[in-house]
Amino acid sequence: MKYKRVLLKLSGEALMGDKGFGIDNERLALYAKEIKDVHDSGVEIGIVIGGGNIFRGIQAEEGGMERTQGDYMGMLATMINSMALQAAIEKLGPQTRLLSAIEMKEIAESFIRRRAVRHLEKGRIVIFGAGTGNPYFTTDTAASLRAVEIDAEVILKGTRVDGIYSADPEKDATAVKFDKLTFKDVFDKGLSVMDMTAFTLCNENNLPIIVFDMNKPGNLMKVIQGSEIGTLVETD
Ligand code: GTP
Repeated sequence: MKYKRVLLKLSGEALMGDKGFGIDNERLALYAKEIKDVHDSGVEIGIVIGGGNIFRGIQAEEGGMERTQGDYMGMLATMINSMALQAAIEKLGPQTRLLSAIEMKEIAESFIRRRAVRHLEKGRIVIFGAGTGNPYFTTDTAASLRAVEIDAEVILKGTRVDGIYSADPEKDATAVKFDKLTFKDVFDKGLSVMDMTAFTLCNENNLPIIVFDMNKPGNLMKVIQGSEIGTLVETD
């Protein structure tokens, strides 16, 4: 295994599969299985999952709601996804701990960095819910922050495309995929990988990001073994 401790970032939308909303049980089970397989090989895994399949902050703004209110609703949405993923993983055997950035002690432990690290050392998969606990921050930023805090070697951004392209491959047939980029390349080319806050946090802390297709069985394992699938972004 190339990496010993990783932070896996999954988007909420990915969980809805082909449904327009909510959680697709088959997709959830697939992700749980992928995660179990890498856990079985001894890798320490932290996970951050988005909430866009349930609620997006932007929806709130469109409806005339305050941005902050919408963002907190989004954070609660990540907790629903985190709980679903926790249940799906535990059904397959591995122990997990769900840590929330917003206190909700009947449902999850509160996030305490040292506790999170201890859980990882004890072989538990740690799911970080409720984003950073603050409005105006995306779940990509939460993933970057938690990755830095737990000293992960890499952020694995599991998406439905197999890497970073020069343009949106779903809209532009001339789009080409990059195998490797530096943070500076991404910035100079104006590519969208993560929002700037998340991106800066990774860059300043020398934390590489790998963007890969999470929907292809076996891919998560391959990435962790060091196969060059997806796109690697690192400091030059
Ligand atoms: P160790 O102290 O390393 O043994 O970790 P542990 O997580 O097994 O110990 P603990 O006794 O703290 O936790 C037992 C179970 O209770 C675990 O499933 C935890 O996730 C859960 N748990 C711990 N603290 C809280 C909390 O504040 N709220 C909720 N809802 N669950 C908690």
